[in-house]
Amino acid sequence: MRILGIETSCDETAVALLSVTGSLKAPKLKVLKNLVSSQIKIHRKTGGVVPEVAARQHAEIIVPLMKRALGQTVPDVIAATSGPGLITALRTGLDAARIFSIVKNIPIVGVNHLEGHIYANWLGHETRSAKHATFPALCLIVSGGHTELVLMKDHGKYKKLGATRDDAAGEAFDKTAKLLGLPYPGGPEVARLASGANPFAYSFPRPMMQDDTLDFSFSGLKTAVRTFAHTKGKMTRKEIKDTCAGVEAAIVDVLVAKTIRAAKQYKVKSVILAGGVSANLKLRETLGAALRAERIKASYHIPPLEYTGDNAAMIAAAGFFHATRKDFSNPLKLEATSNWELGIRD
Ligand code: KG4
Ligand code: ZN
Repeated sequence: MRILGIETSCDETAVALLSVTGSLKAPKLKVLKNLVSSQIKIHRKTGGVVPEVAARQHAEIIVPLMKRALGQTVPDVIAATSGPGLITALRTGLDAARIFSIVKNIPIVGVNHLEGHIYANWLGHETRSAKHATFPALCLIVSGGHTELVLMKDHGKYKKLGATRDDAAGEAFDKTAKLLGLPYPGGPEVARLASGANPFAYSFPRPMMQDDTLDFSFSGLKTAVRTFAHTKGKMTRKEIKDTCAGVEAAIVDVLVAKTIRAAKQYKVKSVILAGGVSANLKLRETLGAALRAERIKASYHIPPLEYTGDNAAMIAAAGFFHATRKDFSNPLKLEATSNWELGIRD
């Protein structure tokens, strides 16, 4: 089966072609094409994404990118992100996908962007012999717009256990970077500067880390960084590096503590890390070490680095598992939903 993936929920125009062979129980996913056209340079000028500018960029590039990904291939299934995300941005990719589906009579699946991030963990097994996650699995989804703990009972079956009450983890990284005068997007830059620096030089709050819920809050941390930066004034390179290390440690500590709490509470078989922030090496390592230290027997899954950020291969992977259940959408009715939640909360 060949699946065309399309992703335009934020600031990356992405198209991928995925080939799936093998049995339904043990499918082999192979990424044939993974094209990502980043708008970072454009959004750097404004220090963040301007939705209308992002949508216009997607509209310009989406069709040539589809042509490049496909060549002469006619896919069996089309999978396109239909939410959550910026509505005008989502629509450009989704409309291209819908038109292609209608004209060529190819089944289409509308994929949740966060579900896509989870399925990045089913990619990259061509070169690694790692095993896929088993269920129930606990997913920590950490991106620029979301921070959620989701229980995955099976393919396509989700229950939201907790989420941020204000800012997302990625946002906390990005806003820290902005306050320190570092370029957009801030997460990778903060992580780079934090590497080798002293995380104990300054102490930053770890909001909600000790409470009983599985929710998060990062706005207090942002305020603490702002106050700290204003009080300090102009910082030396070393001070900036230590600040990055301190903030990174605070974010990672909270994420790891809540994930461990949830893993124990729900006795999961796997723990899955997903979303742009899953590229963070300190988070990857600290969560792995904490699972071992707490003797949690779940298998631990981290996506290959090349699929942590927004891409369409992960959307195609999620689309494949929908297709196996004949869980298709009506291309005439498929709409973009900017606030589409993954899994209902009790
Ligand atoms: O999933 P993603 O690519 O886009 C959204 O769906 O939002 O996530 C982007 C977020 C940004 O906030 C970015 O700063 C953060 O992921 N990020 C990182 C790292 N790489 C990307 N945060 C911390 N450390 C990183 N290495
Ligand atoms: Zn994302």
